[in-house]
Amino acid sequence: MLKQREQFTSRLGFVLAAAGSAVGLGNIWGFPTNTANGGGAAFVLIYLVLAFTLAYPALMAELTIGRHTRANIVTALQGLSPRPGVRLTGRLVGSYGILVASLILCFYSLVAGWMAANLASSGAALAGLDRPAAWLARDGVPRNLLFAGLFSLITAGVVSEGVKHGIERWSSRLMPTLVALLVALIGYVLTRDGAIAGLTVYLLPDFARISSTLVISALGQAFFSLSLGVGTMLVYGSYIREGDSLPATGAIVTLVDIGVAFLAGLLIIPAMFAGRELGVEIYANGQLQAGPDLIFRVLPALFDSMGPLGNGVATAFFALMTIAALTSSISMLEVPVALATETTSLNRKTAAWLVGGIIFAGTATIAVFFDPLFGAVVTLTTEFSQPLLGIALCLFAGWAFNRNALLEEIRAGNPGAQKTLFWKVWPTYVRYFCPLLIATVFVQAIFL
Ligand code: PHE
Repeated sequence: MLKQREQFTSRLGFVLAAAGSAVGLGNIWGFPTNTANGGGAAFVLIYLVLAFTLAYPALMAELTIGRHTRANIVTALQGLSPRPGVRLTGRLVGSYGILVASLILCFYSLVAGWMAANLASSGAALAGLDRPAAWLARDGVPRNLLFAGLFSLITAGVVSEGVKHGIERWSSRLMPTLVALLVALIGYVLTRDGAIAGLTVYLLPDFARISSTLVISALGQAFFSLSLGVGTMLVYGSYIREGDSLPATGAIVTLVDIGVAFLAGLLIIPAMFAGRELGVEIYANGQLQAGPDLIFRVLPALFDSMGPLGNGVATAFFALMTIAALTSSISMLEVPVALATETTSLNRKTAAWLVGGIIFAGTATIAVFFDPLFGAVVTLTTEFSQPLLGIALCLFAGWAFNRNALLEEIRAGNPGAQKTLFWKVWPTYVRYFCPLLIATVFVQAIFL
């Protein structure tokens, strides 16, 4: 029996879900620290150029393939062309995308669990429960397993409800909450002493810091931030209605992603400098703290020093992080779940709980064998695999996708398409330049 395929109910529904996927820990944690350490506005400038010239075209490759094939990444790529070689490559690339999405979710749930534990801790402190609050704030394997487990349960619960009632409904609730929390926190932090010094470090360009490693980290950041390469945007694209214009919708998602990353910088960097004013050490080896120490030591020290308001601010901050992580993790889980529901007889509920359970086993393994595994999985997936898969997806859109069908997809819901710059440039660009440019930056990153 052919299962009825779900769709997002509106263009806004898709934009909120896709922006929910894009806006995550990468924006709120990664972008601000990369910017502050990478030359401030100079980094932002490079990031913007790369986001629009490489990440946006790659996003469009995923969205067009997704909507045209209306399928998960494996079925989609192998169905683009009848040629046996292309079909086999499609199946291999698609399967690798599924694997990478699942591995990213393994470590992402663990990090999200840290956020959720700190949220519970600041909530407990707010309620005057000091001893549980202290336990919850302390890093430890049992705590991490518990909260990564809870987070994974919620993720699977949302995905099990489907596109409309799960993903779209929760993204539409959580994304406005996220933006409201972010703006409120920025408003508060910018009134603190020292915040303006932070703004200067964040925004004043220092072009001397630009180097090839910086360009590479900006590219990696852009690909991770837009959730590219692993089939997330492809599968979300497969749920877009026929009448919505893809180039415009993709551009909005890109702009929201960049906008939230930029806003997050207005929160994190001034907050660090407000902390310095209160005696918190914010530099390590001449660089601004960027790793877990930033989130779990520097910022909490700042919250502690704020007196009675501190617990409330900490609760809002960790709620922001947890929400950002959740809307991203549901999009990662959707990648293998869509494959399972479309290629086996499993229904969505069973598939979501089963696949969610398997991925949690991976999360638990990383939590227990943290030192050897965590960094290795992050590097393998985000630094190596995402750009390589991004290249592959551009090649599929440029070469395997039938030209007329591709153009038809761009035209759907977009009546004046032929007159746009996108129409004139993108189909050729995604065929030659985009894969070549990504490959150039990637090769430099690995070998130079
Ligand atoms: N874009 C998310 C973030 O910025 C991470 C992500 C990567 C989500 C890959 C889905 C797929 O945190």
